[in-house]
Amino acid sequence: MTVDFPNKHFLINGEWVCSNTEIDLIDPSTGDVIAQVSEANNEHVNDAVGVAKDTLENTWKNITARERSTLLSTLGRLIEENYDVLASLEATDVGKPLRQAQADVKALARYMEFYAGAADKLHGDTIPYLKDYTVYTLREPHGVCAHIIPWNYPMQIIGRSVGAALATGNTCILKPAEEACLTALAFGALTKKAGFPDGVLNIVTGSGKTGASLSQHSDIDHISFTGSVSTGIKIQQSAAQNVIPVTLELGGKSPQIVFADADLDAALPFLVNAGVQNAGQTCSASSRILVQKEVYPKVVSMMAKQYEMLLVGSAMDDLDVGPLISKKQHEIVSNYIQQGKDLELVATGKYKEEINNGGFYCLPHLFVDVPADHSLAQNEIFGPVQIIMSFDDEDHAVEIANGTGFGLVASVWTQDGSKQMRMAKRLKSGQVFINNYGAGGGVELPFGGRGLSGHGREKGFEAMFGFTTIKTVAHYHG
Ligand code: NAI
Ligand code: MG
Repeated sequence: MTVDFPNKHFLINGEWVCSNTEIDLIDPSTGDVIAQVSEANNEHVNDAVGVAKDTLENTWKNITARERSTLLSTLGRLIEENYDVLASLEATDVGKPLRQAQADVKALARYMEFYAGAADKLHGDTIPYLKDYTVYTLREPHGVCAHIIPWNYPMQIIGRSVGAALATGNTCILKPAEEACLTALAFGALTKKAGFPDGVLNIVTGSGKTGASLSQHSDIDHISFTGSVSTGIKIQQSAAQNVIPVTLELGGKSPQIVFADADLDAALPFLVNAGVQNAGQTCSASSRILVQKEVYPKVVSMMAKQYEMLLVGSAMDDLDVGPLISKKQHEIVSNYIQQGKDLELVATGKYKEEINNGGFYCLPHLFVDVPADHSLAQNEIFGPVQIIMSFDDEDHAVEIANGTGFGLVASVWTQDGSKQMRMAKRLKSGQVFINNYGAGGGVELPFGGRGLSGHGREKGFEAMFGFTTIKTVAHYHG
């Protein structure tokens, strides 16, 4: 199987369109240019929004939920059939180890399968009311949805956001990140193959300028954004101008809390992997490890040993840690590592072999005894950098865990059932995991943040509420 899409083009109304401004796509493993993408300008964005609006009114509204389900199901199958192509595109474009890219293809297919299954199971209610009235609610799509996504997990984020929006009857405009957009374009090509009507999914590639033009457009009915806090604030401001709903997923500073009675051997792989997966460029990365003082030295030594075994190399070498996405991201992460120069660095990973190219590699770094107000303890680093902090008791753990502006994911390691329940309630977080971290990705599990991590929920059935609005119909019939 192959997925064909032309270089330097994006997708509007089923046609591949280009502009005369191009952006180089760089392979983070080598620093080499691998392709170019066209930068969509205001006119292209305007066309895409117009097409999405017309398609909604003239075509997509007439397609039943069951037919949407069949289309999504076909798309899921095509994604699976193109597993190898999609995985190597993602690995090369994002620089992620091949196995992680393969897991992302599986997740994308699973999103399509999940939302195919859910599409015809969302419905309104009837509401008991006054005498002589019958009242019911209709769950309707918002209309034209903009999806502005980042470069770290293009396929997974397309899956959770575009999948749920299409299932609920919206038309979409997808704006992938300028650093990595090949699988978004491949996804567009596959929607055509699956038989989605032209104009249901449109894709505009380009920089933040393209994203800004899309988010400011007055005919957009909903924006779903994943990325930085600063861009999230701009997006919410644009949404406010047009008084439309917005879902923001803005990353985090997610803690894992290890109590003295935890099964440390079971915890260890999760403590490390959740920090270095995708080179730490994960919204739900666990960048803070909080350890009860009784077992603190032991956990530090266990994690340090694990770090010393971490191997860094290119995406196709498929080791533990690949390169960072870009020179810019490398500078951001190096700057944080520099800010940790007065801290104790207990371990780093290592290169499997010397790398002599322009790739954006960064060794994993493990810092200990980091004060709670240190910049490394407060800011999202988005690189393979973890910190370990110690705590005295439950209250102290909660205080540190809830002590950043973020609140996306947290995990608690303890064998005490009462403590598990109390901690789950006390943590300021969109997801809490007990004796695990991430629960294997969980397409079914609602995901989103509190505070600086954003608002609104994606994934699972919950996302379908976010991509729809309720109309209350009250019949007076005497
Ligand atoms: P970004 O938030 O600037 O980019 C994400 C997406 O937004 C891209 O598609 C970009 O083109 C678009 N965009 C940029 N400016 C825009 C604007 N004014 N209006 C509309 N769309 C706009 O993030 P960036 O610069 O790639 O990364 C910077 C930092 O953001 C990272 O170091 C990391 O801390 C955080 N980040 C968090 C992510 C997450 O998963 N929550 C993903 C990517 C980045
Ligand atoms: Mg940016």
